[in-house]
Amino acid sequence: MSLATQPSVPSTDIPIPPDLWKRLTSTVGLVTVRDGERVNIMSAEWSYFVNKQPLWVAVVLGPRSATRELIGPAGEFCLTLCAEDQAALADLAGSFSIRDLDKTSSELVSLAAARLVSVPWVDGGVVALECQLRQEIAFPVHRMFVGEVVAAHLPERPDSVRPLVKHGGCTSWGSVPSGARSPSSRNAAPPAPYGSVPPRRRS
Ligand SMILES: Cc1cc2nc3c(=O)[nH]c(=O)nc-3n(C[C@H](O)[C@H](O)[C@H](O)COP(=O)(O)O)c2cc1C
Repeated sequence: MSLATQPSVPSTDIPIPPDLWKRLTSTVGLVTVRDGERVNIMSAEWSYFVNKQPLWVAVVLGPRSATRELIGPAGEFCLTLCAEDQAALADLAGSFSIRDLDKTSSELVSLAAARLVSVPWVDGGVVALECQLRQEIAFPVHRMFVGEVVAAHLPERPDSVRPLVKHGGCTSWGSVPSGARSPSSRNAAPPAPYGSVPPRRRS
């Protein structure tokens, strides 16, 4: 019996909050993928290196994202790890779908031609990676796409570019970057800024 088919651990009296995943801290990724003549960009905070040599990177995508349907047929993607001044772009790419909007038409987006894959990468990040798809792993709801990094693009002065950090909301190192909003802000009014802390209850 594989581990995945083993019965779930019986539930205990200790409830598991449904939003525990928000406790993760990560740099927001911007995934680009080709859809025929079109290019799509989506935000993916679940972006990680998973192997050093060869260098493999993984993005984990939920069922809502159109990108998830595009990566397999494309067989390649690019991943940019956002710089802190790309909070508004991360918000845009994570709040709208290619089903509703051509996100590449936004003035926030600067694309650069790739060397070894056919989809361009988002410029201005901490690093941008051109990836060939090597593996897809299906989880109960999410799906992991693992790519081998075949080319990488660093800024001219890599140490001067600071990452956009996601921990619940998007923050830079200890502060809230300008232009950031809540990912679900499309349907909620007024939107809370990323990284904002709700007022403490008086005890
Ligand atoms: C900051 C941020 C991070 C996100 N990270 C992920 C992620 O790791 N995986 C995922 O499936 N969706 C993530 N999302 C949601 C998708 O980006 C969102 O569903 C997007 O509309 C998908 O675009 P698409 O339909 O054009 O692919 C994130 C959203 C935001 C704002």
